[in-house]
Amino acid sequence: MIEVKNIYFKYGQEQVQENASFSVSEGEKMALFGVNGSGKTSLLKLLDGLIFPQKGEILFEGHKLTKQSLKDKNFRKEFRTSVGMLFQNPDIMLFNPSVYDELSFGLKQLESTKLDEKVNYWAERLNLSSLLSKSPVKLSGGEKQRVALASILILEPKLLLLDEPFSSLDPRATGWLIDFLSSLDSTLVIALHNMELAKEIADRVIVLSENHKIIFNGDINEFANDKDKLVKAGLWHRHSGKGPHFHNF
Ligand SMILES: Nc1ncnc2c1ncn2[C@@H]1O[C@H](COP(=O)(O)OP(=O)(O)OP(=O)(O)O)[C@@H](O)[C@H]1O
Ligand SMILES: [Mg+2]
Repeated sequence: MIEVKNIYFKYGQEQVQENASFSVSEGEKMALFGVNGSGKTSLLKLLDGLIFPQKGEILFEGHKLTKQSLKDKNFRKEFRTSVGMLFQNPDIMLFNPSVYDELSFGLKQLESTKLDEKVNYWAERLNLSSLLSKSPVKLSGGEKQRVALASILILEPKLLLLDEPFSSLDPRATGWLIDFLSSLDSTLVIALHNMELAKEIADRVIVLSENHKIIFNGDINEFANDKDKLVKAGLWHRHSGKGPHFHNF
């Protein structure tokens, strides 16, 4: 479904992807790991055609993803309806006057039918039914994250790009999302920091190093059980708090 071939990406002078290559097959669930600033969000934005590599190429179902190719109406529509991205900060995704409008916005753009039915279904699944008339700016962090997620899931994309979707969720919503994502047929690329959650959802993991290189691409259990690799990736940490002093959070 996705092929990334030797891409380089820079923000100004700062290189944030360096010679990255990997592919994601249809139906595959892939986790994306790496310390803060390693380039997870940038990589998801590249896969979502929001930014473009200066060198190398990204193919989506065999079509090259470029600024130019996305100007083609048909390809843009096909790509935008196939791919949904949840941003790390849901605030930038929420701009409608009510949760109901937020959930139905994408459907309206696609001139979809059965709006009420779909909104009510997804609101119920994400425990948002009582919030439908509320303004998204007046919601809690976790509620906003659930609204942003529902506004993507309602479009039933075949490729889901999720940037730290668990960061504001309580245990109940986290449990629900794990079950939901594991049962999903869609292809999934999910950036997160919690290995235990990742193991429940994904089979494969790509790990980015601090200097923005892919240092592991393979079986998630193999990576999770290899302490040397975890330490090298900065994902296993020695600290001096009250709990166990050597830990992967
Ligand atoms: N819009 C931008 N302009 C310039 N530099 C940026 C921009 N966005 C990110 N960067 C830089 O690119 C690098 C990678 O950032 P990115 O957001 O992809 O990391 P991340 O792995 O998602 O980090 P985190 O775990 O904190 O979310 C960082 O060094 C960051 O400072
Ligand atoms: Mg990020």
